[in-house]
Amino acid sequence: MLGLSVLMWNICSVSELSSENMRTCFQIVNAYIYLSATDFLQNYAEGLCRSFCELLQDITNEGQVQVLKVVEIALKVSPILGAHMFQPLLPAVLRGVVDGEKYPVVMSTYLGITGRVLLQNSSFFSSLLTQMASECNQGIDQLLGNVIEMWVDRMDNITQPERRKLSSLALLSLLPSENSVIQDKFCGIVNICVEALHDVMTEDSDTGTFRDCMLMSQFEEPKLSDDEEPPTEQDKRKRLMALEDPVHSVSLQQFVYEKLKAQQALMGDQAFGLLMETVDTEIVQQLQQFLRGL
Ligand SMILES: *[C@@H]1O[C@H](CO)[C@@H](O)[C@H](O)[C@H]1NC(C)=O
Ligand SMILES: *[C@@H]1O[C@H](CO)[C@@H](O)[C@H](O)[C@H]1NC(C)=O
Repeated sequence: MLGLSVLMWNICSVSELSSENMRTCFQIVNAYIYLSATDFLQNYAEGLCRSFCELLQDITNEGQVQVLKVVEIALKVSPILGAHMFQPLLPAVLRGVVDGEKYPVVMSTYLGITGRVLLQNSSFFSSLLTQMASECNQGIDQLLGNVIEMWVDRMDNITQPERRKLSSLALLSLLPSENSVIQDKFCGIVNICVEALHDVMTEDSDTGTFRDCMLMSQFEEPKLSDDEEPPTEQDKRKRLMALEDPVHSVSLQQFVYEKLKAQQALMGDQAFGLLMETVDTEIVQQLQQFLRGL
């Protein structure tokens, strides 16, 4: 790993690199995270996080996206350690969401990271909100409301199917809730879930039933067509990690169903009925179509 130490040292002056070299540099870092997440994060994440914090101050949008992708991958392959090691960076990410970062690609990356954090550990997410609330003298609920509103509003900026499904799972994880701020945003949350259901639900031509096409099973080997290369070791590692990723292991359809049921059980039928009335009737119909058969 001596080579890696040298690389890490170079990262510190990455802002002086050409953008092409910088991209290569980040590719190597990402490959190492996939190769050996725990080892890598324990040894290098602290230094990396420090230089990232500096880098993010003065870097192009493209550079910002590269930096944030490293954090996103770390959170994906090693949720607990990733969140712990890159914690100093996370308030800036949340700030970027609340402030409505104007570049769609950067915003999408912010939301990808926020989604991972929220879905993986809601109390960690709350502690970030609390920290931010005290720094900017705002109420925690007000901040939470702003985050959700911005998320729903900017969902169109997220083009990656993975992040779109993750966004729905993350926002759904706020349910069931008695918090009036979350209930106020219920309509928006349902809207983006239905959008994501449109993305992921595909018809299985063999059985004629609809299923979440992002679900992966360890029993299903990916089918290879004749002109495809066999998977590399790196591909195989990524696949094994994906099996643990909620995006590929949780059925969105099932998750939506369970969360709405839980909200109904919490509020009672009548109040839940009123809450559902805040959602556009056409969206409710689409939702019912997707949930049919559960
Ligand atoms: C979740 O976050 C809380 C608060 O930061 C922390 O104490 C706890 O260890 C975290 N749990 C996991 C499983 O990461
Ligand atoms: C990003 O989201 C905003 C707000 O919804 C929208 O006006 C803008 O067109 C979106 N841009 C892209 C590239 O998706």
